[in-house]
Amino acid sequence: MKRYFALIPAAGVGARIAAASPKQYLPINGVPMLQHTLEAFRRSELIAHTYVVVSAGDGYIDSITPELGVTVLRCGGATRMDSILNGLRAIRANVGDDDMVLVHDAARPGLTPALIAKLIAAVGDHEGGGLLALPVVDTVKSTRTGTLQTTPRDGLWLAQTPQMFSYALLLRALALAPDPNAITDDASAVEMLGFSPKLVEGHPRNLKVTLPTDIAIAEMYLGQDSK
Ligand code: CTP
Ligand code: MG
Repeated sequence: MKRYFALIPAAGVGARIAAASPKQYLPINGVPMLQHTLEAFRRSELIAHTYVVVSAGDGYIDSITPELGVTVLRCGGATRMDSILNGLRAIRANVGDDDMVLVHDAARPGLTPALIAKLIAAVGDHEGGGLLALPVVDTVKSTRTGTLQTTPRDGLWLAQTPQMFSYALLLRALALAPDPNAITDDASAVEMLGFSPKLVEGHPRNLKVTLPTDIAIAEMYLGQDSK
């Protein structure tokens, strides 16, 4: 039986949110963002173990992880992709080639065990793995060519995480990816190998906290849970 492992990249600095501490440790309803994120995996019965990748000099992680039963990997890299690749190599001895790895951004604290279960069930044995995503609801405009253009929104999705692939496929895809800065999600690297990961509808509560205004939205969703 294949097992399911979570790998959480948490080695970023949060340049766009420009706060005093790294984004993943900012309080969401009084609890560090990363702690909410790790709780979703701890509460999921489907996850065999959770690994979190932080930067070598991270001075915050020890205050939140002891009671969460996760393994901390101090091997964060220069880009999100490098952090994940370093993490995958660090867990090599503990994970089988056919085991599944769910990569999930530390900066998405609204994930729930139900969404994890939905992803795992919907992807099943699909060889290209899969990811949570949301259908685009707004009209899409592009200024890329210099002239304003409208792109039909049907068939367009916004990628979320978790993104789930077999260990062997994900490692191969990221190791072969030509430009770490261009790989802002894992599925894009897998797509470059010719696979078509499955899209599974996620939920707006699983937003990625990126800008200062996202904090209030995350607090609203997480605040609903305790009511
Ligand atoms: N991440 C990482 N290593 C990096 C860069 C990002 O592990 N070198 C992680 C972040 O900690 C985050 C996830 O990847 O959990 C998604 O990245 P993003 O939202 O872009 O976070 P940051 O890179 O920290 O933010 P910004 O791009 O605004 O600097
Ligand atoms: Mg970033």
